Amino acid sequence: MARPALLLNAALVACALVLVARAGDPYQFHDWNVSFVNTSPLGVNQRVIAINGQFPGPELETTTNNNVVINLRNSLDEPLLLTWNGLQLRRDSWQDGTLGTNCPIMPGQNWTYQFQAKDQIGTFSYFPSLLLQRAAGGYGGIRIHNRAVIPVPFAPPFAELTVLIGDWYKFNHTQLRAALDRGEMIGKGDGVLINGRGPYGTTLTVQPGKTYRLRISNVGSVSSLNFRIQGHKMKLVETEGSYTAQALYDSLDVHVGQSYSVLITTDQSPKDFYIMATSRFSLPELTGVAVLHYTNSFSRVSGPFPAGPAVGDINFSFNQARTIKWNLTAGAARPNPQGSFHYGLINISKTVKLANSAPAINGKQRFAVNGISYMHPGTPLKLADFYKIGGVFSPNSIPDYPDGRSPYNGASVLSGTYRSFMEIIFQNNENPVQSWHIDGYAFFVVGMGPGDWTTSSRLTYNLVDAVARSTVQVYAKSWTAIMLELDNVGMWNVRSQNVIRQYLGQEFYMRVVNPEDPNGINEPIPQNVLLCGKAKK
Ligand SMILES: *[C@@H]1O[C@H](CO)[C@@H](O)[C@H](O)[C@H]1NC(C)=O
Ligand SMILES: *[C@@H]1O[C@H](CO)[C@@H](O)[C@H](O)[C@H]1NC(C)=O
Ligand SMILES: *[C@@H]1O[C@H](CO)[C@@H](O)[C@H](O)[C@H]1NC(C)=O
Ligand SMILES: *[C@@H]1O[C@H](CO)[C@@H](O)[C@H](O)[C@H]1NC(C)=O
Ligand SMILES: *[C@@H]1O[C@H](CO)[C@@H](O)[C@H](O)[C@H]1NC(C)=O
Ligand SMILES: *[C@@H]1O[C@H](CO)[C@@H](O)[C@H](O)[C@H]1NC(C)=O
Repeated sequence: MARPALLLNAALVACALVLVARAGDPYQFHDWNVSFVNTSPLGVNQRVIAINGQFPGPELETTTNNNVVINLRNSLDEPLLLTWNGLQLRRDSWQDGTLGTNCPIMPGQNWTYQFQAKDQIGTFSYFPSLLLQRAAGGYGGIRIHNRAVIPVPFAPPFAELTVLIGDWYKFNHTQLRAALDRGEMIGKGDGVLINGRGPYGTTLTVQPGKTYRLRISNVGSVSSLNFRIQGHKMKLVETEGSYTAQALYDSLDVHVGQSYSVLITTDQSPKDFYIMATSRFSLPELTGVAVLHYTNSFSRVSGPFPAGPAVGDINFSFNQARTIKWNLTAGAARPNPQGSFHYGLINISKTVKLANSAPAINGKQRFAVNGISYMHPGTPLKLADFYKIGGVFSPNSIPDYPDGRSPYNGASVLSGTYRSFMEIIFQNNENPVQSWHIDGYAFFVVGMGPGDWTTSSRLTYNLVDAVARSTVQVYAKSWTAIMLELDNVGMWNVRSQNVIRQYLGQEFYMRVVNPEDPNGINEPIPQNVLLCGKAKK
């Protein structure tokens, strides 16, 4: 059964285990057993994916630069991979847990992930990346604390609480998958879960007169959610590893795959308060409700639900997004303030414009990026790269701009040069809000606006204090621009966080290569690598 995580120092571990030595930094070990459990989050009995019997799964709590070792046992009846959403896994896409980088862990098998939370702090989440399994659970929060020597830009909170919000379907994920495989579309979900429970199923108990840090992640399938707490303002302090200029919010939009930290102060007269997470852009509105309970409260939640922004009000969202800025004087993982990195002064070496679309291909509903709908070629791209196996993918197979080609299915790969500085425009000509994620990176969210992006849109960029994060929204018929330095070689998944769109092809891989390295893509292969497809000898 579950072994508690234990901390050992690296010297001890080096003699005990054959692991890559990463001098000085502590190791922590976890045994995670992934299985179905029966539960009924929305009143309908379902098999839900649990880890060590828990749904949501255990919090992965660590500290900058710790080495994390997770022995993951697949007790499902389907292949499994977990991905660490937002972790930068420096030069280590072997641990990323996506089908382009890893062979799946087959039912009844176990596989050990090992990675380092190198130079990172912040709030993230993990979830299963295959087969629409995220719609069945298997997710949890990730918390990376600052090392003790690095100051945090706010007083230590009394306690931290994880709040995982997400839409949920009463149909199970195998039924949903069967519908998508037939080429049908599925709707918006039936409700919103907060920490794995339906309405009133979760109570967060707090002491009066204290400050709490809430680590909020949207771990759902499709829906952007608005999060708010009756009678309490939230002070936003962190977005996926960037400490923000602290500002107060009545409610906060959290798009699929995004994470935020907020501080709340329990300064109200003793009572129970509603915690709400409601769908932002879809009608009928999906409503998640939990309870904030003061330990000295004797009255249950009452009164109307606290109101959020009107469903579909994009202006509210644009305006809120523009207020979320980096605190240039706050350090993070390293003692020097990250703000000393003047991203706005670096010359752009390449601009890429990525347009999502929803074509029918071979008579089936698919989703595409610049005309290509991603189809797994049967062999992880990373293995094909390492063993130089031809016929799996071709580098540079996705055009840098939408070029009007007629949509097709393929293993699309974008080429990037190590240390170059890239501008990416996500162009959404559709109505549903998009949520885009890049594995292995944090990028600067420099701008967003309605309509078509043009070169003059650059005049509106924030080149001073944009936040760096790993998942960004693109509103209906709008664009979002990001900038990133390609400082992490590897094969990195770029995906729609909308799990249905991702399952149906709205993703690709970015292959970042160092041309000065004779091996080009130069990460050492792990000793326990799984082989499959054409890499299986
Ligand atoms: C993993 O979980 C399954 C289902 O609960 C259980 O049957 C099995 O014994 C567990 N395995 C380990 C190694 O804990
Ligand atoms: C989903 O529901 C179908 C129909 O009831 C059932 O056959 C299938 O086993 C279920 N899958 C899971 C993972 O519970
Ligand atoms: C599977 O788990 C066992 C112990 O539970 C461990 O000894 C073994 O190394 C693991 N295998 C892999 C491939 O991680
Ligand atoms: C920014 O960080 C500094 C340094 O920790 C802190 O003192 C300051 O209050 C923060 N400013 C804002 C606006 O959050
Ligand atoms: C949103 O903002 C735009 C431009 O500022 C304005 O034209 C439009 O009327 C606004 N829409 C709503 C619903 O307020
Ligand atoms: C950017 O390009 C301009 C013009 O080519 C050049 O003068 C400048 O030094 C470059 N800046 C950096 C930071 O490389």
